[in-house]
Amino acid sequence: MPEKVLDIDDLHMIYAGGVHAVRGISFEVNQGESVAIIGSSGSGKSTVLRCINRLIEPTEGKIHLKGEQINTPHTDVNDLRSRIGMVFQSFELFAHLKVLENVTLGLRHVRKMSKGEAEEVALSVLERVDLLDRIGAYPGNLSGGQKQRVAIARALAMHPEVLLFDEPTSALDPELIGSVLETIKGLADEGMTMVIVTHEISFARDVADRIIYMDEGVVAEEGPSSIINNPKSERLKKFLSSLHEDEVPEQIHQDEGDSTV
Ligand SMILES: Nc1ncnc2c1ncn2[C@@H]1O[C@H](COP(=O)(O)OP(=O)(O)O)[C@@H](O)[C@H]1O
Ligand SMILES: [Mg+2]
Repeated sequence: MPEKVLDIDDLHMIYAGGVHAVRGISFEVNQGESVAIIGSSGSGKSTVLRCINRLIEPTEGKIHLKGEQINTPHTDVNDLRSRIGMVFQSFELFAHLKVLENVTLGLRHVRKMSKGEAEEVALSVLERVDLLDRIGAYPGNLSGGQKQRVAIARALAMHPEVLLFDEPTSALDPELIGSVLETIKGLADEGMTMVIVTHEISFARDVADRIIYMDEGVVAEEGPSSIINNPKSERLKKFLSSLHEDEVPEQIHQDEGDSTV
């Protein structure tokens, strides 16, 4: 039996203003699995990731990491964030620190490594994201794709049990998206456990082991990547057919004869 890494049970999030953004989400992520979460803007995808990483407190529900409940008042949030890596759309790098220092920071302060130990780990993850030639650069002198790969290296350096990605390519110019998707695909191939919120539907289909389609705060459809080409629910069919032409994968089977692709 595969080991369960994340177990999300009946998650609800009502924001202070009263928006019920997440309305009873449950799913599991097993060791080595890549799960993609897709869905239109405002469907609650980022809210789910932020609850998992304890950036916000869910109104209701339980989140377990390897069998241990992590949304309790006793959970050490810093420790948790080193076990659950997160990569944001906007990179969130420190502008005044060089690439190498951005990656060593958490290792030194959270993992209490010496400078030498931290640099050794950082160099190995920076090599993995193909950035060894930029270790002395400041984020301001990197392309968006390079910045995002630094952010991925920083998360990887902590050896997280699971990595969360929130639309990692949506702030990038089209020509820079490929290198970041390649990096994420490489991690999937190596067996990294990941939850990837993405609007890159073909990427989700080709890389994820499982797809979760969210709509209005609920899981409206969930299944293997084949659901992208063979959606069952009307809601997923409608979502897929609403996407821009280049994002729509080939051969969406539509039962009704309305316009698609
Ligand atoms: N900090 C917040 N305060 C109030 N409402 C929020 C906040 N963040 C998100 N929302 C609302 O929650 C809903 C889900 O948002 P979000 O999780 O960001 O969706 P997605 O990531 O799928 O686009 C939206 O209606 C959004 O406006
Ligand atoms: Mg979002």
